[in-house]
Amino acid sequence: MNERYSVARGMRDMLPVDATRMSFVEQAFITTLRQYGYEEIRLPLLEKTELFQRGVGEATDVVSKEMYIMEDRGGDSLALRPEGTASCVRAAINNSMLRGNNPRLWYVGPMYRYERPQKGRYREFTQVGAEAFGYTGPDVDTELIEVGTVVWEQLGIAEHVTLELNTLGSPASRMRFREALIDYLTPQREFLDPDSLNRLSTNPLRILDSKNERTQQIVSQGPNISDYLDSESVEFFVDLQSQLDARGIAYQCNDRLVRGLDYYTHTVFEWNTDKLGAQKQLGGGGRYDGLFEILGGEPTHAAGFAVGVDRIALLHENCEASVESDAADIYVVTPIGVFDTRLDAIMKGLRARTTLRVKRHMGGGRLKVQLRQADRSGARWALIAGDQELQKNVVGVKWLREARDQVDVSIDALAEFFEQQHD
Ligand code: HAM
Repeated sequence: MNERYSVARGMRDMLPVDATRMSFVEQAFITTLRQYGYEEIRLPLLEKTELFQRGVGEATDVVSKEMYIMEDRGGDSLALRPEGTASCVRAAINNSMLRGNNPRLWYVGPMYRYERPQKGRYREFTQVGAEAFGYTGPDVDTELIEVGTVVWEQLGIAEHVTLELNTLGSPASRMRFREALIDYLTPQREFLDPDSLNRLSTNPLRILDSKNERTQQIVSQGPNISDYLDSESVEFFVDLQSQLDARGIAYQCNDRLVRGLDYYTHTVFEWNTDKLGAQKQLGGGGRYDGLFEILGGEPTHAAGFAVGVDRIALLHENCEASVESDAADIYVVTPIGVFDTRLDAIMKGLRARTTLRVKRHMGGGRLKVQLRQADRSGARWALIAGDQELQKNVVGVKWLREARDQVDVSIDALAEFFEQQHD
């Protein structure tokens, strides 16, 4: 026997039962985003490595440790996208999308990060993202948060999701805070955990959300971002909170919330759950008014979020929320052989006139064997279309999940019959 292959570490096969739940979560976001007037954008899986180095930030974990980088045959360095925001901004700049228009966009698809895999953390995972370009805010920040809130309700998981909110202020405020933090932490560097010590010179703001207890203690006595905000930043944040309050959207302010990507200014937020252990972050986002310029565009206000579909699907499953399966509704059992034009017309008619999923048995076999397969398929009904039935212009309908007697139904009335039965 030849060698079998397992999937690469951090990658997963998503079998129908999981894939259905993933699609269900994606569709909940997509439908809601469409209802709010957001339009789909599709972006490449591969981008020039530099886009993320410049856009997301060289000192971030995502870029410095987690990117899948390859050299293509022409010698260009390409990276599998670790996130969608930088690509979305690049696309808006390249395609002059802001000329006379302020786009609001959504995307869905796999992202890649070379992280240590565990439940809820994968090297290939799916995000739904939304980005709004050209709005000064904070009305658009509020709208983005509202979209999330609506979807948590729709999915029936709202009680397990909390929203954390912070502001990083204008780039100038953020810079002043950064310096104050470095000044405060440098004399205590020997007490920091190794990761935080590293970040002191590369990405000091990230030390604020270190999980190390000692570091947390040190940080808690240090400078607070709210003391470094200029009046414009304070006003923006107060305005955002009052807009959320007006909509009855609950949140907790957390002045240690900094996010792992470098492009944020002003608003940052995260949706968390307490039901998934360490992988508690279901989604996050914020404002990134400086990114267009960093990527060679005109100065442009921008805000967005992305959610992790894999984690939301896990939470949804943990909450025992049900998802309609992809299994067929009707399994067509056919003792007549491989192809029969009458039967073919019946199945086409049902597919065209109802929303039912009609699966045809393949490969012949005895009636008993076919009915066993019908049962395994998860279908609600078996449709029995033998020669005898067809000659009488009827088909037999057998309930597979309910104790009811099989009935003959006239072929002409079949679509109506199933429509009445289907709830
Ligand atoms: P992010 O917080 O890096 O933000 O990722 C968004 C979400 O993707 C996370 O909250 C998490 O649910 C999910 N996620 C991240 N890494 C993994 C992983 N290894 N396995 C499973 N799920 C994961 C961004 O990516 C920003 N682009 C969001 C944004 C859009 N900000 C503004 N616009």
